[in-house]
Amino acid sequence: MNFYVLTLFPDMIENAMKESIFGRAMEKKILSLKTVNIRDFTNDKHKHVDDYPYGGGAGMVMQAEPVYNAYQSVLDEITDKEKKPRVIYLTPQGKVFDQKMSEELAQEENLIFLCGHYEGIDERVLEMIVTDNVSIGDYVLTGGELPAMVMMDSISRNIPGVLNNEVSAEFESFHDNLLEYPQYTRPEEFMGKKVPDVLLSGHHANIEKWRREQSLIRTYERRPDLLENAELSKKDIAFLKTLC
Ligand code: ADE
Repeated sequence: MNFYVLTLFPDMIENAMKESIFGRAMEKKILSLKTVNIRDFTNDKHKHVDDYPYGGGAGMVMQAEPVYNAYQSVLDEITDKEKKPRVIYLTPQGKVFDQKMSEELAQEENLIFLCGHYEGIDERVLEMIVTDNVSIGDYVLTGGELPAMVMMDSISRNIPGVLNNEVSAEFESFHDNLLEYPQYTRPEEFMGKKVPDVLLSGHHANIEKWRREQSLIRTYERRPDLLENAELSKKDIAFLKTLC
C-alpha cells in the first residue's frame, strides 16, 4: 500500500510516521509514505499558497492551483493509470472515521490524503479531486495533518504483515463492536493488586469465558452504544442481563 500526503507540513508527517510500527512497516516495504509539499507547486513568486476569501470574511483560503498541481504530481507517479486513487480530504465536515472505514480503506493500493490549513481550500479543486471527505471526530483542529496521521496509523494495522501478531488486530477493541478485555503481565502481584486467578489457571475454556464476560462488562459500562451492533450469542445476552 502506498500513502501519499499533500501537505504544507511534510516534516511533521515524516517525523512522526518513521517511528514505531508504521516506520518498521515502511522499512520492511510493506507500505510506503510519500509527502508532497503543496508549497512546491505554487507559481507565486513569494511562494504563497493562500489568498483572501472572495466575499470577505476572516482568514485565508488555500488556492486551487498549487493543490491541483501537487495532486497531479502524485497521479504522474502512480503506475496504475486505470484506477483513479481515492483522495481523502480531512475536514470536520466529513464522514466520521471508524474501524469499519479503516478496514475498507486498507483494501486500496494507493491513498492520497489532502491536508488543509487556514480557513479551508478553494472549493473548485475539492470538487475536482476529492473522493472522500473524512473527519476524525466532532472537534476542530488547526489542520489535516494529525487526522491524516491518525487514519494512516489505523489503516496500516489492518494491512497483513504490519503487526507482528496477525491475530491481535482482529481481537482488539472494536472487533465485533466489543471493547477488549483487560490484560495483565508479570509480576503476579503489583502493590498488593493480584492478577485474576483464572488467568493463572491454565484452563483455556475458563479463560476464554472470563475474557468474553470482561469484554461485555467493559462495553456495557463504557460504550453501551456499541452493543447495538455487536454480534451477541444467547449466552452473551443472558450474561448482559445479569449486569442490569
Ligand atoms: N481538520 C480540522 N479538524 C478536523 C477533524 N476533526 N477531522 C478531520 N480533519 C480536520
